[in-house]
Amino acid sequence: MNALAEDLVTKHGTKCHIVTIDLAEADAAEKLMAEIEKQGVKIELLVNNAGVGLIGEIETTALGDIQRLLNLNIITLTDLTYRVLPGMLERGHGAVINVSSVAAFQPVAFMAAYAASKSYVLHFSEALWAEARGRGVTVMALCPGVTQTAFFEVAGAPGWLEKHSSQTPFRIVKSAMSALEKRRQYVIPGWKDYLMSLLVRLATRRTAVNESKRYFRPGKRGPQDDAQKS
Ligand SMILES: NC(=O)c1ccc[n+]([C@@H]2O[C@H](COP(=O)([O-])OP(=O)(O)OC[C@H]3O[C@@H](n4cnc5c(N)ncnc54)[C@H](OP(=O)(O)O)[C@@H]3O)[C@@H](O)[C@H]2O)c1
Repeated sequence: MNALAEDLVTKHGTKCHIVTIDLAEADAAEKLMAEIEKQGVKIELLVNNAGVGLIGEIETTALGDIQRLLNLNIITLTDLTYRVLPGMLERGHGAVINVSSVAAFQPVAFMAAYAASKSYVLHFSEALWAEARGRGVTVMALCPGVTQTAFFEVAGAPGWLEKHSSQTPFRIVKSAMSALEKRRQYVIPGWKDYLMSLLVRLATRRTAVNESKRYFRPGKRGPQDDAQKS
C-alpha cells in the first residue's frame, strides 16, 4: 500500500492516507469514518470495492466464512454508503460506486451467498440512485464479469481464472468512470457480459440456476445429480 501511495503521489500528485482496517468487523465503518473525520476531509467519491467470494459445497462451507462475507459485502458497504450520502446531498455533489458483479443477475450454485450478496448490492445501489437523482449525487452499481485479480484464488477456486476469458481491472475502472460521468445507475463493462445478463432474463429461473452449476461445481458430477436431473 505504501509503494502504491508513493507511486500515486509521484506520478499524479495525489494525496494518500492509508488506513488499515478489517472491513468485515461489525464496527468497521464507524472506525473508518472516524479516521476520515480526523483528516478533516469531505468524501467526494466513495468506492466500496472490498469484497470476497466463497466457492464450495454446503457441507464444506464454514458458517463463519459466510458471516464474514455478508459483513464485508453487505453490512459495511451499506453502513459506509449511508454514512457518506447525507453529506454529499447537503453539498449537492458526490458519488458512490458500489462494486457488485454479473453474478448479481442470477442465483449461482456453489457460490450462493456471494451471488446473493451482489444482488443486494445491485438493488440497494439502484434504489439509492433513484432517491438521489436530480440532487447532484449519484450512486452506481459496478457489475464486472470475470476479471484478472486474486478473487478466485481467495474464493477457493485456484486456477479457475486461467481457464476462463477475463477482463483487466484497468478496463473495468475505465468503463466505470465513463458510466459514472453519464450518471448511469449500473454498468456491466464489456458487451459479452452485458449480453449474458440479458440472456439470463430470457431463460426460466430454473434453467438459469441449473446452468450455473456448471461453473463452480467442485470435483466431478455425482450420481445424485444425474438422479435429480431425470
Ligand atoms: N475478479 C472478479 O472476477 C470479480 C468479478 C465481479 C466482481 N468482483 C468484485 O470486485 C471487488 C474487488 O475484488 P477483486 O476482484 O479485486 O478481488 P481481490 O483481488 O481478491 O481483491 C479484494 C479486495 O478486497 C479487500 N478485502 C477483502 N477482505 C477485506 C476485509 N475484511 N477488510 C478490508 N479489505 C478487504 C482486499 O484487501 P487485501 O488485499 O488487503 O486483502 C482487496 O483489496 C469485489 O467486491 C468483488 O466481489 C470481482
